[in-house]
Formats: sequence, structure tokens, C-alpha cells
Amino acid sequence: MTSDTVPVVVDEVAPRYRGRVALVTGAASGIGAATACRLAAEGAQVVLADLDEAALEAAVAATGKAAGHGGGAEGVVLDVADETGWAALADRLNNGPGRLDLLHSNAAIAVIEPAGRLAVADWDRQLAVNLTATFLAVRSLVGLLERSSGSIVLTSSVHAVRGLPGRPAYAASKGALLSLSRQLAADYGPAVRVNTVVPGPIMSQAWDSVSEPDRERSIRATTLQRFGQPAEVAAVVAFLGSADASYVTGASLVVDGGWSVTADSA
Ligand SMILES: NC(=O)c1ccc[n+]([C@@H]2O[C@H](COP(=O)([O-])OP(=O)(O)OC[C@H]3O[C@@H](n4cnc5c(N)ncnc54)[C@H](O)[C@@H]3O)[C@@H](O)[C@H]2O)c1
Repeated sequence: MTSDTVPVVVDEVAPRYRGRVALVTGAASGIGAATACRLAAEGAQVVLADLDEAALEAAVAATGKAAGHGGGAEGVVLDVADETGWAALADRLNNGPGRLDLLHSNAAIAVIEPAGRLAVADWDRQLAVNLTATFLAVRSLVGLLERSSGSIVLTSSVHAVRGLPGRPAYAASKGALLSLSRQLAADYGPAVRVNTVVPGPIMSQAWDSVSEPDRERSIRATTLQRFGQPAEVAAVVAFLGSADASYVTGASLVVDGGWSVTADSA
């Protein structure tokens, strides 16, 4: 299975996001693109943010196609680690729809090297994109989210809770997101709920460089004996951000096909 074979379009969904505005980062691909499609299908006006302009254009088109119940899509080229980009995006939302109901902070990068060989610049960049970006997003947008009684969903990873070779900065950033989300939930409740989704092996372009034997090993390590699809994470993000999760905040929800409960998953 390759990332190309993964469907991101959903069939029948309830219009839980009709009249709502959602922002998804890392939305040009994988989990972010699937979440944008899911939210638009449920009626959201989705702002897709990513720094890959060409892929973003395609994802905006796919999201527009998936949209239903008054939903729609627009794209914003943004480096999530760039503070000035967040200020501009906050202005755009304040002067445009004037509301924000869901922030899905999802963009991430991974440089695979053990700590002894990882360049300091690569450590800094991973922390900036995977962790500091969420702080920048919240700093710029929490006023809008509070006014809309909105919600935040962060994308962490099973690497936050299990040590695997070669990902010190990635794992540290994903672990920090779990504590950051609890902290944000405490700071901004009751107006804003904050939760984290914790994916396991999800078939996206992130797996393109992984060998077939390693992919098969990952599949064998899941209780469900397969990769997850981005749409299966998107469904959980859409739940956490919706009124169906109205009493859920400060929580993390693992979406890993049982990878983290299977003994030989390392
Ligand atoms: N795929 C998996 O197996 C898996 C497992 C656990 C967690 N995750 C997490 O899920 C999230 C999405 O991963 P994915 O598999 O869909 O990856 P992906 O590579 O398909 O998508 C990531 C997107 O983020 C964008 N991006 C990267 N740096 C950015 C920046 N500075 N500013 C804006 N956009 C940027 C990329 O252009 C890309 O479109 C990530 O947070 C990842 O850590 C993925």
C-alpha cells in the first residue's frame, strides 16, 4: 500500500460543522488533508495552511469537492514556525469570518538521526515546526477561539509514549505537545476545549521512504494488522472538535490500531 492509494473523501457524515470555521495546518497532505476534507464535508469553512504551495492547491481543490452542508475551502501558504505568518493569518480571520471554531495544529517534520549525530539546526527546526508552532498559533488565535467557544486539537504521535531509534527531537516535541495540551486546556477552559490525537502508523507520504520489510513489520505490530488511513484520524479529530465531545478536554486519544498495546511494536 502506498500513500497514493489512500482515499480522503468521505461518504455520508452529519453536518456537525455547519456555519463553523476551521483551520488545519499541514493540510496539503496526509492526515491534515483528510481532516480538511472531513470537516468541509460536515459543513465547515476550512482554511488549509501549509508551506507546500503546489500540494496545497490540490488539497484545497479536493476539500472543495468533498464539501457539503455549506462547507468550503481556502488555502494559505504558511510556515507554521514563522511568527509573522501567524499574525497575518489572525488578521485575515479577524477581518474575514470573524470566528474560529476549530484549530487543528498538525504540521510536523521528522529528521531521523540519533542525538549524537543530529545537527543542532535540525533539532531546532523540528522543535520549531512540531512544538513552538502550536504556541504561536494559540498566541495569535486564542482570542478568536474564545469568542467562538471553539476547540483545539493537536496532533501528537505514539513516539511521545514509546522510545524508537533515531527520533530524539521528533519524540521530544510530540511528548511536549501532550503536556502543552493539558496546560492549554487548564488555561483556556471553560471557553476553549483542548485535546490531542495520538496517531500510530498512518499511511501517508511520511512512509514513502520506509522499506517494504519495515512497513510489514509495522503492520504486524498493530493489533488490527494494517496501517491506518488518514481519514481514520480525521474522523477522530472531527469528533474531538465537535459538540459530540463537549465534556472532553485535556484528553489524548490514541489512534494506532493497537500498535502501542502490542508487545513487539518496537
Ligand atoms: N503518518 C504517520 O504514521 C503518523 C504517525 C504519528 C503521528 N503523525 C503526525 O501526523 C501529522 C501529519 O502527518 P502526516 O503523516 O499526514 O504527514 P505528511 O507528510 O503527509 O503531511 C505533513 C504536512 O505538513 C506540512 N508541513 C511541514 N512543515 C511545515 C511547516 N513548517 N509549515 C507548514 N506546513 C508544514 C507538509 O508540507 C505536509 O503537507 C504530523 O504531526 C505527524 O507527526 C503521523
